[in-house]
Amino acid sequence: MVEIITPDTVTIRLLGACDGCPASGLTLSEGVEKAIKEYCPEITTITKARGGVTAKPVDGIPVHFVSPFANSEDAGWEYAALLDEIPERQIKVVTVAGNEVILSRFDGKVTCYQNACAHLGMPLDMGEVRNGILICPHHAFEYSLESGECLTAPEVQLQTHAVKVVGNRVEIRFS
Ligand code: FES
Repeated sequence: MVEIITPDTVTIRLLGACDGCPASGLTLSEGVEKAIKEYCPEITTITKARGGVTAKPVDGIPVHFVSPFANSEDAGWEYAALLDEIPERQIKVVTVAGNEVILSRFDGKVTCYQNACAHLGMPLDMGEVRNGILICPHHAFEYSLESGECLTAPEVQLQTHAVKVVGNRVEIRFS
């Protein structure tokens, strides 16, 4: 929850892959709103905050946490790439601590996924990318690179890793 505006309004933030996901409106209305109204009937208006969370600068360099759920932990971050090496709505594949991961960028927001299809776990990096959609080269499942959501089988999604951007440095932490 981001803020409570008395007497009847709350603002919430959806975390991790929910933020920016095309299905987040449904999550908000069918899940979160129902639960809040059931337990707090005096709340009648629920709004959604967008975007990541900013954090304290590191050595004077601004930090932008793309994955808000990672905000409270400082340990375990690994360097992955420079921000300007990651193409907009395309992919960059890097190996970090022995893991192949896929990085993508959307207006300054960076996403990171394990290089493994949610169907049979096969590598995705040779797949075609069309306007932010990655198509698995094996059986053509389609994935939103912005949210990790599988557009072919909505019940599955890519394995997401936490990302933070410190200046031009992109760091990830394995989930
Ligand atoms: S392994 Fe990717 S769609 Fe089958």
